[in-house]
Amino acid sequence: MKTYADINVVVVGTGFIGPVHIEALKRLGVNVIGIMGSSSQKSKSARKKFGLKKAYLQFDEILQDKAVDVIHIAVPNIFHYDMSKKALLAGKHVMCEKPLAMNIFESNELVSIAKESKLEAGVCYNTRFYPLNIEAKNKIQKNEIGQVFSIVGNYVQDWLLYETDYNWRVMADQGGALRAIADIGTHWMDLVSSITGLTIESVFADLSTFHPTRKRPKGEIETFSGKTSKQIETENITIDTEDCGSILLKFKGGAKGCLWVSQLNAGRKNQMRYEVSGSKGAIAWNSETPNEIWYGYRDKPNEILSKDPSLMSNLSQPYLSYPGGHNEGFSDTFKQIFKSFYDSILHGKNKEGIMYPTFAEGHHEIKICEAILESNKKEKWVIL
Ligand SMILES: NC(=O)c1ccc[n+]([C@@H]2O[C@H](COP(=O)([O-])OP(=O)(O)OC[C@H]3O[C@@H](n4cnc5c(N)ncnc54)[C@H](O)[C@@H]3O)[C@@H](O)[C@H]2O)c1
Repeated sequence: MKTYADINVVVVGTGFIGPVHIEALKRLGVNVIGIMGSSSQKSKSARKKFGLKKAYLQFDEILQDKAVDVIHIAVPNIFHYDMSKKALLAGKHVMCEKPLAMNIFESNELVSIAKESKLEAGVCYNTRFYPLNIEAKNKIQKNEIGQVFSIVGNYVQDWLLYETDYNWRVMADQGGALRAIADIGTHWMDLVSSITGLTIESVFADLSTFHPTRKRPKGEIETFSGKTSKQIETENITIDTEDCGSILLKFKGGAKGCLWVSQLNAGRKNQMRYEVSGSKGAIAWNSETPNEIWYGYRDKPNEILSKDPSLMSNLSQPYLSYPGGHNEGFSDTFKQIFKSFYDSILHGKNKEGIMYPTFAEGHHEIKICEAILESNKKEKWVIL
């Protein structure tokens, strides 16, 4: 029988998240055979750094290499559509970073191509795979919080607080017309939909750009490196994407929601928080303390569960790697999402388990993003 080690993978992207993919794949035991960056020099030095067999210098080389089974796409958003499409048409399974594409036309086409190809095609919304988020899903599935009334929360960071902070994401032609919401807000929306099973059906959004001009360094700058880089020469650029925004949400079935997303919240490095409240109880989780989850009750004392496999459900067990007291965090979620993806390649989809997000789900996030843009422009509710 085939195992993870029989699957050959190439990762495209050598910035922040490409190496996170490589580490997680190696921990899982998948055979990472090569890497490609934005230049020959970057491809070669990444190959060396990660001890891989091959540095690919062109994307076509990966497509034509019969040894390659899977391509991970971890490059700026503008390349996601073209690379995913070519990879699927070349017969490779695809794990693409989020957001899936720059607009709904691209993501819609990718869904059709993925469906016809019968290949596995995933979008890397990894936060579903924190063990306590799976535990939250289990509690909701078992009706332990009753009918869901509200889902509120935020996703906030501070790395783009100053006008001197710059990254390709702030440019609509590189990252898409929505920035903060597409980049991090979609993580939150994917997560709450995954744990509650509820789909967002309409939105009312108010977006703001507090820095209409930013200072762009002359030369490439990789994600999150701006805060530590030395003084460099810059040029003024006009910003056409939002720094932050609030969104009212209506979910199918009647639950209401409210989300605040910002890349200008000082002191908040990367905080995703949700609170789901229902007719019997509530659940709250915060990515800054991901190994604790809060259960709220009206008629008995509230509880805090610290991640511990011996106290957790059967649903969570396959996605827990360590005993209680040994924290599992960001990098572990990549291992677990890839486990779900590679198990599907080897054995078909396991509908009983936690599924990696498909291209159809990635497409739904883009649909929400476009509805948010329209709502902000028209100052009205928009139904998806
Ligand atoms: N799932 C997550 O938690 C998560 C976290 C961060 C980023 N992301 C996503 O990952 C993607 C990459 O983000 P990042 O933060 O790593 O960006 P980054 O800027 O740090 O790195 C991007 C890398 O892509 C390379 N690149 C650019 N064009 C290329 C091309 N044509 N061919 C090959 N390589 C090319 C760049 O040289 C750079 O190394 C984005 O889509 C982002 O939304 C996801």
